[in-house]
Amino acid sequence: MRVVMGRAKKVVLAYSGGVDTSVCIPYLKQQWGVEEVIAFAADLGQGDELEPIRQKALTAGAKESIVENLIDPFVEEFAFPAIRANALYQGRYPLSTALARPLIARRMVEVANQKNADAVAHGCTGKGNDQVRFDVVFASLAPGLKVLTPAREWAMSREETISYGERYGIPAPVSKKSPYSIDLNLLGRSVEAGVLEDPNMPPPEEVFAITSSIDQAPDEGQEIEIAFQAGNPISINGDLLDPADLVRQANFLAGKHGFGRIDMIEDRVVGIKSREIYETPGLLLLIKAHQELESLTLAADVLRVKRQLEMKWAELVYQGLWFGPLKEALDGFFDRTQEDVNGVVRIYLKKGNAMITGRNSTQNSLYSSEMATYGKDDHFNHLAAEGFIYIWGLPTRLWASIKRK
Ligand code: ARG
Repeated sequence: MRVVMGRAKKVVLAYSGGVDTSVCIPYLKQQWGVEEVIAFAADLGQGDELEPIRQKALTAGAKESIVENLIDPFVEEFAFPAIRANALYQGRYPLSTALARPLIARRMVEVANQKNADAVAHGCTGKGNDQVRFDVVFASLAPGLKVLTPAREWAMSREETISYGERYGIPAPVSKKSPYSIDLNLLGRSVEAGVLEDPNMPPPEEVFAITSSIDQAPDEGQEIEIAFQAGNPISINGDLLDPADLVRQANFLAGKHGFGRIDMIEDRVVGIKSREIYETPGLLLLIKAHQELESLTLAADVLRVKRQLEMKWAELVYQGLWFGPLKEALDGFFDRTQEDVNGVVRIYLKKGNAMITGRNSTQNSLYSSEMATYGKDDHFNHLAAEGFIYIWGLPTRLWASIKRK
C-alpha cells in the first residue's frame, strides 16, 4: 500500500464511466486505503446516457456518485472565450478537450469542499496533457487538498486494468475491440491510439462519428450566416440561439458538410509528439467566421498584436494554465477588442469546405468603399503617397547605397 502525504479518507474522483476511472474506485480503496470515494462526472454534452454512468460508479464501490450538467458554463465560460481568442493550438487544434478540464477540476474542488473531502483524484496517465491540466488547477485553487493519481502509478497494461476491474464487478468495455482512446464533449471528439499511432497511416473512416467524409457529404452546398455580438456568436441564419444550442447547430451544419476534421502531429506538454484526430466542426466554423469578422472590424495594429497573443493564449490553455495570471491579463486585452466585433459573416459549406463569401458590420466596419475603390474617387490624395513613400523607403535606400559601394 502506498502511503504518501498521509492517507486520504474521503476522495472526490473525476469519473467518466470508462474502465480506467472505474478501476480507480476499488484501487483507491484497496491499495491506498481510502475510506470513501465520491465519483464526480460532468455532463459536457457528450451525449452519453448518464444514469448508467452514475450507477456504474456505485457498482464499482463509490459511496456516492454525482453527475452534473455543466454544459452552459462549459460553452459560456470556456468555449466562447476560446472563440473570441480564435484559439488554435499549434495553429490547428481548437482545444475541445483542453477547455473541459479546468471546468471539471474547478467544480471538483467545490464539491470536495462541500463534502469535507480531504483529497481529489483522477485517472489520467503520466504521458498525457490532462493530468497536467487537472493537477495545476487543483494545486492553484485548493493547495490544501491531496491529489491522488492512481493511473500514474499502478503500472498496469490495459488488459491488466480490465481484469483488475472484472474482479471488482467492473464489466470489460463493450467495445473491447475498439483500440481507440476517445474523449468527447459538445465541442468535439479527440481520438488517439490503435492504428493512429502510425503517423503515416490514413485514419480509417470508423474513427469519425460527428462529421461526414468528403465523399459522403451532400453534393449540394449550403450557404449560412453567423452573427456575432461583442465577439460572441448569437445567431445562425437569423435564428437567435442560446450558446449551447448555437454550438449544436454549428456542429450539425459543418459536420453534415464534412468540415471540421483535423489530422495532426501535436506537441504534448510532457514533450511527446503524438498523432491526434479531431472532429470539431462547430468550433472550427465559429472560429473561422469570427476571425473573418475581426478582419473587418479591428484596426490593423490591434489585429496584428491580437493574432500574436492568440497563439500564446491557445498554448497556455493547452498547457493547463487556465487559472494563471497571463491568461487573465490576455483576457482583459481580448475583452476590450471584442467590443467592436459585431456583425454577420456568410459562409458556403460544401464537401469539407467552409468558404467565406461575405462579411458585414453596420456598427463597426472599418472598410471604406471610398478609400478602397479603383473607380473614381474624390477623397484620397494620390499625390500624398509620393511623400509617404519617400520617407518610408529612406532607410532601405540608405542601406542599399552603402552596400553598392
Ligand atoms: N491531445 C488532446 C489534448 O491534449 C486530446 C486529449 C484526449 N484525452 C483523452 N483522455 N483521450 O487536449
